[in-house]
Amino acid sequence: MKTVIRNGEIVTATDRYRADILVDNGRVALIGSKLAVSADREINADGLLVLPGGIDVHTHFDMPFGGTTSSDDFATGTRAAAFGGTTTIVDFAIQSRGHTMQEALETWHRKAEGKASIDYGFHMIVSEARPEILREMQSMVDQGVTSFKMFTAYPGVFMVDDGGIFRALQRAGEIGAMISMHAENGSVIDVLVEQALAQGHVEPKYHALTRPPEMEGEATHRVIVLAALAQSPLYIVHLSAAQALDAVIQARDQGQTVFAETCPQYLFLSYDNYEEPDFNGAKYVMSPPLRTHEHQERLWRGLRTNDLQVVATDHCPFCMKDQKVLGRDNFAKIPNGAPGVETRMSLIYDGGVGSGRLSLNRFVEVTATMPAKLFGMFPQKGTIAVGSDADLVLFDPNGRTRWSVDTAHMRVDYNPYEGRETVGAVRMVLSRGEVIVDGSTYLGREGRGEFVKRATFRQP
Ligand code: URP
Ligand code: ZN
Ligand code: ZN
Repeated sequence: MKTVIRNGEIVTATDRYRADILVDNGRVALIGSKLAVSADREINADGLLVLPGGIDVHTHFDMPFGGTTSSDDFATGTRAAAFGGTTTIVDFAIQSRGHTMQEALETWHRKAEGKASIDYGFHMIVSEARPEILREMQSMVDQGVTSFKMFTAYPGVFMVDDGGIFRALQRAGEIGAMISMHAENGSVIDVLVEQALAQGHVEPKYHALTRPPEMEGEATHRVIVLAALAQSPLYIVHLSAAQALDAVIQARDQGQTVFAETCPQYLFLSYDNYEEPDFNGAKYVMSPPLRTHEHQERLWRGLRTNDLQVVATDHCPFCMKDQKVLGRDNFAKIPNGAPGVETRMSLIYDGGVGSGRLSLNRFVEVTATMPAKLFGMFPQKGTIAVGSDADLVLFDPNGRTRWSVDTAHMRVDYNPYEGRETVGAVRMVLSRGEVIVDGSTYLGREGRGEFVKRATFRQP
């Protein structure tokens, strides 16, 4: 099957030019001006940007967490991602205590197979650093799972002590893997939570008040120091606070191999959302929590100046009805997480390119190219080049998108961006050359998504 996309404005992390793209057998075969080729399908992209498909390296589909399971599975989640212009996701398999990584990986393959409609990979959450688990990291790498998430938060569930984190970092450094860190001081947060509850503070806003930005800054600094000592690359996930950003900046300025992602919620939403009445603050209960406004501009600046390299979503949706309500009388029981896999590309285009904070090339870089490079998928994914997968988004820079729970495709009963209008609109999405979204029509199929066996870490 050959497809030719005519006359679009191709944008990569480095280039911007008008050309035609010939797609053959799922890959970009030829790029050129007025290509004299015939194809099975001609797509007119006049007036549209042709972008590399978005890559979201932080999703939680079908994830058991907080006494319930995230409400999108790999079918609904990847479909929603596609509508939003994302063509690859990397989700998190969980090695839970007493179990092996292999068991976890097989479980997550079963969750995704037959359901995912876009390509996907897995990181592995490490919840114990015992010798057998550390040994198993090599086997994961051999199977294309080349990154591992660890936590200084959630004591008793995912948190591993500093010695364990250090051992895993050493091992990652040896085998070419990347450790991603959820950096908040979970032990101190638990004390603050206990004290808040003892004083009868049960409303959603206490989730944020008991997880102060200083505790994110402290944990971020700590794991950066551990990674330096272990001589391992490090990636900080869902960075939300200026204090954490300062720790990343300092380390990068000293030449350390440290990277960080932030998420749209930390750029667009704020602590004020927790003050919404009638338990609506629960919609925004996630960890780290939303911060006050001054943190937002620091994060945008970090994206512009390459102190932050990636925007991912941490998509982890829970319905208000039945799920968030578990914490009606106790904020600590509200399942942590919020939806975002569908809104990411549009929000970052709007707040970044539309508002003049990011160039178009930088927008592509933080939403597709850098995620692909840092997580071993480049140049198969994350750019538009001869030989790359034809994962493409036809994006209308003059369109407008209004966001609502009624029109979004995520399986959740609210949208954190309800009523917001963003500049730009996704018009068409191709995954490995196949049109899977055409306007408001979904043409993807459950199970067509392929597992991406990722390579080991290479300095981008
Ligand atoms: O609140 C969040 N972030 N939920 C998902 C799990 C995690 O820590 O990323
Ligand atoms: Zn996390
Ligand atoms: Zn997460």
